[in-house]
Amino acid sequence: MYHIRSLADYQNAYKKSVEDPEGFWGEIASQFVWKRKWDRVLEWNFKKPEIKWFSGARLNITENCLDRHLETLGDKPAIIWEPNNPAEKGKTLTYRELHKQVCLFAAVLKNNGVKKGDRICIYMGMVPELAIATLACARIGAIHSVVFGGFSAQSIADRLQDAKAEFVITCDGAFRGAKDIPLKSVIDDALVSCPFVKTVIVFTRTRTPVSMIKGRDVWWEEEMAKVSGSDEPLCKAEEMDAEDMLFILYTSGSTGKPKGVVHTCAGYMVWTNYTFKNVFQFENGQVHFCTADIGWITGHSYIVYGPLSAGATSVMFEGIPTYPDAGRFWDIIDKYKVDILYTAPTAIRSLMGFGTAPLEGKDLSSLKVLGTVGEPINEEAWHWYSHHIGKDKCPIVDTWWQTETAGVLISNMAGVTPSKPGYATLPMPGVQPILVDENGKEVHGNNVSGNLCIKAPWPGIIRTTYGDHERCRVNYFATYENLYFTGDGAMRDENGNYRITGRVDDVLNVSGHRIGTAEVENAINMHTGVVESAVVGYPHDIKGQGIYAYVIFSGTNTDPELMAKDITATVSRIIGAIAKPDRIQFVAGLPKTRSGKIMRRILRKIAEGDLENVGDTSTLLDPSVVDEIKKGSLKKS
Ligand code: WT7
Repeated sequence: MYHIRSLADYQNAYKKSVEDPEGFWGEIASQFVWKRKWDRVLEWNFKKPEIKWFSGARLNITENCLDRHLETLGDKPAIIWEPNNPAEKGKTLTYRELHKQVCLFAAVLKNNGVKKGDRICIYMGMVPELAIATLACARIGAIHSVVFGGFSAQSIADRLQDAKAEFVITCDGAFRGAKDIPLKSVIDDALVSCPFVKTVIVFTRTRTPVSMIKGRDVWWEEEMAKVSGSDEPLCKAEEMDAEDMLFILYTSGSTGKPKGVVHTCAGYMVWTNYTFKNVFQFENGQVHFCTADIGWITGHSYIVYGPLSAGATSVMFEGIPTYPDAGRFWDIIDKYKVDILYTAPTAIRSLMGFGTAPLEGKDLSSLKVLGTVGEPINEEAWHWYSHHIGKDKCPIVDTWWQTETAGVLISNMAGVTPSKPGYATLPMPGVQPILVDENGKEVHGNNVSGNLCIKAPWPGIIRTTYGDHERCRVNYFATYENLYFTGDGAMRDENGNYRITGRVDDVLNVSGHRIGTAEVENAINMHTGVVESAVVGYPHDIKGQGIYAYVIFSGTNTDPELMAKDITATVSRIIGAIAKPDRIQFVAGLPKTRSGKIMRRILRKIAEGDLENVGDTSTLLDPSVVDEIKKGSLKKS
């Protein structure tokens, strides 16, 4: 049941997973190292919601990712690190070396007063120490909250406060392409409003000057030196309950404030391992290259926990696909003989834009499986990826999932179940998708569309939103009774394949990153000159979706170009550069209903450049604002 190797295996596994989920997952879970076996495989109630997988079981996920491989894979590479600058030497950590580093850093955390259950914010670039820090937290039962290096000081402060995190692990700086990002300095700004942070551990990467504050800030290297010499046995793994929190990862929703998605130890481990092995059809000894950042769920699940628990070699890349040139991914694939490449449609589209010249002289013959994640993939990009990168011999897996799902829910399995360009295709065993209409009624049959929901829990399902369980209930489990609501729309074809059509809530997907429109509006509204704003998405050739902001401005400044620059700077300051609007249109009014609700449907149409089809405007308080906005539209058809 564990390894799905044929379509028939898939069908059998799927059937069993639905008919007897406890038997199915019990059998799968027996592949792992447990300190104590579970009493029950699954207990659940979507109303509360309360979901418990493997309750009563005791384990430590790092023993499954590291210790258990030492005998057989001790000298095999666990992490291959490729630096931003190809002229710099990379680093390979074998399973034995990674295990040692994790144990040592776990001891450092303990020396600095970290205890089981404490929250630790990790704000680092893509260096191996980021994976080490993450695993060291898991080793001692501290809850990690990794924050992507592109977020602003304000965003970090919000997350530190929400999680009440007293510890921060960061770097002096990070290299990303031609840029050098001063991470520690951003942390210092964040900590002005977070006096409860006791300790900051700083890893040296860029040698950017940093101000180390006495009594609070310590160097990674010095702390490691303190524990390295000792003869003490390597830091023992904390025995965790199956449902103890493993980590918090903040993600955007349709309201202004990001929410802390919580995943727990056992279910997360089983789900990421099972999906990693089966979706990519991982074979022992293979090299897996996931191009995501560990600051996102894709990096957590398919750079760190999934591949390591499977004994894979995981490539970690510090830089960006276009530095020093657009052939960088292909060089890395040839250099390390990568078997599996997992990337985002936005990266493929951006590389497509450089044509095939950057592919000249690249071999790519080590590749066996290609994957995509993060947003719907357009057919043109799918075919380019298949032909130019996969040389028409590598299956492509289009993996649909979310921060909340921990791992892949809907995808083909490489070479085992059929692929169809633009379709995520079929659910993983244990995943029961259904489509519902606005009233929550199930839409039966094929060639139908609806809102995508899931009927029953899989081991990696979100357990709560940190510090606010009600928010988790309202967001995911209250829209439709007894269903997990994904926030995505989907259609189902004649063979039961799913095609994800995009978010149906006010969440944008910009270059595969999730950004709430309300969050961007809040940031824009912080600018003194802004009276009101409305943000919508519009189709963007490379990013998938671009951010279009309509802004009512009443400042003394009247130069629209400067005004737009100031607003952009404000958004970067409040959220981070990833949320910068692509287009800002200054308007005199926004289309509102008599009850004061902004009609985003109209704004979306105008942002798309579809000025003729804005639809019915008769319910608006002042329909004439629509003509005004159309006249000033930055995207005319
Ligand atoms: C949203 C989740 C999954 C890890 C990265 C993003 C969209 C994700 C696909 C896909 C179409 C996709 C959905 C989803 N999405 N994968 N293969 N096809 N859409 O995680 O930030 O939690 O975003 O990304 O809209 O809800 P996330």
